[in-house]
Amino acid sequence: MTAFARNQWYVAAYGREVGRELLARTILNEPIAFYRTEPNSDEPTGTVVALADRCVHRRYPLSASRLDGDNVVCGYHGFTYDTSGTCVFVPGQKRVPRTARVASYPVVEQDSLVWVWIGDPALADPAAIPRAPWLADPGWTTVGGMEPIDAGYGLLVDNLMDLSHETYLHGGYIGTPEVAETPITTEVDEGAGIVRVSRHMDDAECPPFYARSTGIEGRITRWQDIEYHAPCLYLLHSRIAPAGVLPEADGSDPNAFHVEITYAITPSTDQTVYDFWAVSRDFAQDDDEVTTFLHDFNRTVVRQDVDALNLLQKALDTEREGYQELSINIDTGGLAARRILARLAAEGEQRTGEQRTTTPPATVAAP
Ligand code: FES
Ligand SMILES: [Fe+2]
Repeated sequence: MTAFARNQWYVAAYGREVGRELLARTILNEPIAFYRTEPNSDEPTGTVVALADRCVHRRYPLSASRLDGDNVVCGYHGFTYDTSGTCVFVPGQKRVPRTARVASYPVVEQDSLVWVWIGDPALADPAAIPRAPWLADPGWTTVGGMEPIDAGYGLLVDNLMDLSHETYLHGGYIGTPEVAETPITTEVDEGAGIVRVSRHMDDAECPPFYARSTGIEGRITRWQDIEYHAPCLYLLHSRIAPAGVLPEADGSDPNAFHVEITYAITPSTDQTVYDFWAVSRDFAQDDDEVTTFLHDFNRTVVRQDVDALNLLQKALDTEREGYQELSINIDTGGLAARRILARLAAEGEQRTGEQRTTTPPATVAAP
């Protein structure tokens, strides 16, 4: 199992999923209830709130409760919480116990994604959230979804960092022989926690995914530039053009088709992960047929990964401790990602340890 990096931002949902119905998601083993406040003068679409999904009274899930204005009323005996998680009403008595509160988590809504911070709230810096601006840019048309996978999140990181699997697992969809045949270049920015893996194919078969969405017939130049911002955000910048067509000297690229493929890899429990995926394009923007095709086709591709990772996790579960893997060149990006994830997780652990030794227990226990 890959350890969790707690002091990090994670995508909990698409903004469109969070409204005036409570939404339950488990992030890094913590059950959380999400909802949106009523529109207010600062936020015409309301503000997303994330509260621990267990009532302080008898642990009833708040996600199975109801909203009263911006407060949550527990569906069991009516303990009522405000947006900070403070209990403002209990039944049968005037005095609300001082300890009646649930944790509230820092949340930022950006680029159509809802990001949540699980670790020490004092360290939550919204400026540290990596960007995927095309997701909310009218210059792009985006389709997307989310598939839960019964596998540790490290397996999904491995999967996305090495696209040579497209040739074998997604043959006939997005894989062609050239993907597996073409060597990669890998760059690692340890300090920023970013891994870049590039594969530029100058003369490749056009897979159905791009042939049917762009209308290109014949061979293509296909560039795949991965940018993984550990731990959660994975960007695949994809450039497709008829073979031989390169960007202009000034960097403009009018004769190519650009697709931004965004994944958010959010650990749910030790052995489950949320696989958020989105495909944004800068062509045929108003063509509904292309939109439907890319949505359905990409969901099929994602489900091929889901099936493979479900199977792989089951196989690994039956392995003896200390089994050996064998890595080759294609794994360079994935191995770099693992190193960074291990470091981020260890830094979080160290910090938790420091708090334990320097902070009085009562403060540590407070949400
Ligand atoms: S469990 Fe929530 S009020 Fe009793
Ligand atoms: Fe895949």
